[in-house]
Amino acid sequence: MAYTIGVDIGTSGTKSLLIDPDGNIIAESSASYGVSMPKPLWSEQDPEDWWNATVKTIRAVVKQGRVKAAEVKAIGLSGQMHGSVFLDKAGKVLRPALLWNDGRTAAECAEITEKAGGRDELIRMVANPAMTGFTAPKILWLRNNEPKRFEKLRTVLLPKDEIRRRLTGEIATDVSDASGMLLLDVRHRCWSDELLGKLQLDKSLLGTVYESEQVTGTLRPEVAQKLGLTSACQVVGGAGDCAAGAVGNGIVRAGVLTASLGTSGVMFVHCDEPQYDKLGRLHTFCHAVHGKWHMMGVTLSAAGSLQWFVEKLCIELAQRRGVDPYAELGTEAAAVPAGSDGLLFAPYLAGERTPHADPNARGCFVGLTSSHKRGHLARAVMEGVAMSLRDSLEIIHSLGVPIREMRLSGGGAKSNLWKQIFADVLDQTACTINAEQGPAYGVALLAAVGSGQYKSIEEACKATIEVIHKTPPKKVAVKKYQKLYPIYHSLYGSLQSTFQQLSEL
Ligand code: XUL
Repeated sequence: MAYTIGVDIGTSGTKSLLIDPDGNIIAESSASYGVSMPKPLWSEQDPEDWWNATVKTIRAVVKQGRVKAAEVKAIGLSGQMHGSVFLDKAGKVLRPALLWNDGRTAAECAEITEKAGGRDELIRMVANPAMTGFTAPKILWLRNNEPKRFEKLRTVLLPKDEIRRRLTGEIATDVSDASGMLLLDVRHRCWSDELLGKLQLDKSLLGTVYESEQVTGTLRPEVAQKLGLTSACQVVGGAGDCAAGAVGNGIVRAGVLTASLGTSGVMFVHCDEPQYDKLGRLHTFCHAVHGKWHMMGVTLSAAGSLQWFVEKLCIELAQRRGVDPYAELGTEAAAVPAGSDGLLFAPYLAGERTPHADPNARGCFVGLTSSHKRGHLARAVMEGVAMSLRDSLEIIHSLGVPIREMRLSGGGAKSNLWKQIFADVLDQTACTINAEQGPAYGVALLAAVGSGQYKSIEEACKATIEVIHKTPPKKVAVKKYQKLYPIYHSLYGSLQSTFQQLSEL
């Protein structure tokens, strides 16, 4: 028998799973860790935490799955995108990694745009404008702010690629994750010598770029032994968590869109050719499907907004024994009518990416009255996240991309209430599929393709993924949200200068 493992190095934890040749999940394991926020807008993690969690969860699935070491043919890696692991010449980590939701690099984004010859030129070279979360601005931040560390810098890796280095010794990445570094010529799927030259960055800092299903190396013998595997076990390119999640949801052909509700929220659509939003609000990245692309919009705090609400504002509920605070809040929120009796929430807790690209945007409740209760606030958070992803969907529609089906995924999609809110706010049936583990499942399938069990990722998805549930929109709620959405959409414009003034305090 041939098994594969998918590993997703996420922001709140790492998840590994083992699948059999038919795509059935045989074992799963996860391990969590924290994010450090030493200053406003900063968000960092220690790569050592990812490594410990990877080792622990791979060992756990091998043990739980009761498979023979030699039967595990390949591993696929997925991870939070854009994070910067800075390494010196001995391979030592120079400082904690800056994460995708770190907003400290506004000055470097301006510097990149200026050095590229303007925003349009930048989009021509790397398909996207500069955003604070992307990796290139982080490299320039190190050069501008920690020059001693920059002098020692020899390699920059994305989170999952640092794990690849520790597993195999290879310095490599895949096209989908590399797209989010803002240094990849996305159309031609290789590093942009032109932009690297303009930014005076050496290409030797970056790894070899592979397609997502290609084999990038095998396990180092001592690591294989530690994990309970063999050194013949291959590690494929894998993918950034958005593209990996899309594969895990079967988004490998045109016309199907996925809205994922993880810490961040992503509206993701497959494209056969690279397509661009001229205003740069959507990202255009390589897909994990060989020779294909995708566009996506990102809400930085999606399920992360509800997590904030539970952990910071419902402490008593979160700590009550035997109570699932999310289920409890779900019941309270379900008793509140669509529209939360006039209460709106903008989920800009970590600034916002799509459509505003503003690290200084701030989260807010607008419309509070003394009759609003906790259930209203919880429902408004869920509605605000759905409306924020509708912002991305509206841009996708405006570019004429045809959509036949919407699939919902991620932790938030387990909530029936949130699924219904999505269907109603987006006026689109929300489908869910048989596999819930998005990114980890997607890269386990890519590993199965790389190790020869399927001819292509399209074939692997066809054999393993099916829609099992549909939540259609409800007319009355759709009408309500059609009135509410323009009001939500106008919030940012009304508050933009307030956000700016607050950030300057
Ligand atoms: C995508 C992005 C986030 C992270 C979260 O551009 O920044 O979705 O990948 O894991």
